[in-house]
Amino acid sequence: MSKTLLLLPGDGIGPEVVAEARRVAEQIIPDLKFEDGLIGGASIDAHGEPLTVDTLVKAKSSDAVLLGAVGGPKWVDAERHLRPEMGLLQLRKGMDVFANLRPAFCFPALVDASSLKREIIEGLDIMIVRELTSGVYFGEPRGYERGIGDNSFGYETSRYTAGEIKRVARVAFDIARGRGGEVCSVEKSNVMESGLFWRETVTALHEAEGKDVRLRHLYADACAMELVRQPKQFDTILAGNLFGDILSDEAAMLTGSIGMLPSASLGIGGVPGLYEPVHGSAPDIAGQGIANPCAAILSLEMALRWSLGEADLADQLFAAVGKALDAGARTQDLGGSLSTSEMGDAIIAAL
Ligand code: NAD
Ligand code: IPM
Ligand code: MN
Repeated sequence: MSKTLLLLPGDGIGPEVVAEARRVAEQIIPDLKFEDGLIGGASIDAHGEPLTVDTLVKAKSSDAVLLGAVGGPKWVDAERHLRPEMGLLQLRKGMDVFANLRPAFCFPALVDASSLKREIIEGLDIMIVRELTSGVYFGEPRGYERGIGDNSFGYETSRYTAGEIKRVARVAFDIARGRGGEVCSVEKSNVMESGLFWRETVTALHEAEGKDVRLRHLYADACAMELVRQPKQFDTILAGNLFGDILSDEAAMLTGSIGMLPSASLGIGGVPGLYEPVHGSAPDIAGQGIANPCAAILSLEMALRWSLGEADLADQLFAAVGKALDAGARTQDLGGSLSTSEMGDAIIAAL
């Protein structure tokens, strides 16, 4: 039976890179059905809210969702609940996709595109497992009190339950089992109660169910430093929502460009996965047709692997991206001159 992929292009370069992923999908899996929907600023403009119930229902009833990016200068001054980014947070929460996999893999052809030295980067292959539906992004209470001068304040709550930590840590242990067998869990247990709780909960789960995996712990600031000092020491990094967000942008640059990093957000059982580039809507280059579509195309690769039951096609697509890069295909962010669609062409040709 043919599967359904919901496309949510979003804002800025989102539609540009999703269009290329769609062309690749049409090529590689001809019987895939596509649906379209709005999210972020595009949804605000059309419906007055960044995520409609209709889009969430469509997402939950598809086999996988491929999202471009949300946000942009047009909506920055809107109230929080009317900002594009809220639509993305609501979608992740609504789909209950709590485990966000962000692979930082350096294609051999791109070792010299990184700002780090070749020997530091060559062979880099890290998986970041970021908790995606809780932590300081969602913790209550939170608030913004204006109009009381220097006593005005803004705050949120960094909160994790044991169940939330255990379910994402289990995913990290499983991922590590299929890779190098080590999980590095990251928090700030030296200063944060939620960080101490995170460390103790991960340690107890490891004792109970994860002894076949090596576990170590790092403070998030030290991890940020180690990621540029000696990134190849890492196999699987487990982090909460905020630290995972920051460390994955950092890891993206190790691979040559943030335009290369895909992600998969997974839930439990038959929940459809949410696939999106790690990069944002890149307002500075939107509309010029020069964005790198690789992160979106590699997000499709992850969808084939994790939601669409097409691991062989995923392998073929991954190889095709590598082959196109080997042949010298490069968008501007990688030091080349190809347009977004020419990069798509190069990958389709390699397929
Ligand atoms: P960004 O990732 O959009 O851009 C950062 C820099 O990287 C820019 O110079 C941009 O041109 C470049 N870049 C990003 N993707 C690229 C690509 N595919 N090819 C070539 N260059 C690329 O981050 P930002 O500027 O901090 O945020 C812009 C907007 O995007 C904000 O509204 C932010 O909230 C939003 N955002 C959305 C997502 C998402 O939808 N998942 C992720 C991050 C940021
Ligand atoms: C990401 C983005 C999002 C996040 C924003 C746009 C809500 O930065 O996916 O990395 O912070 O999770
Ligand atoms: Mn981010």
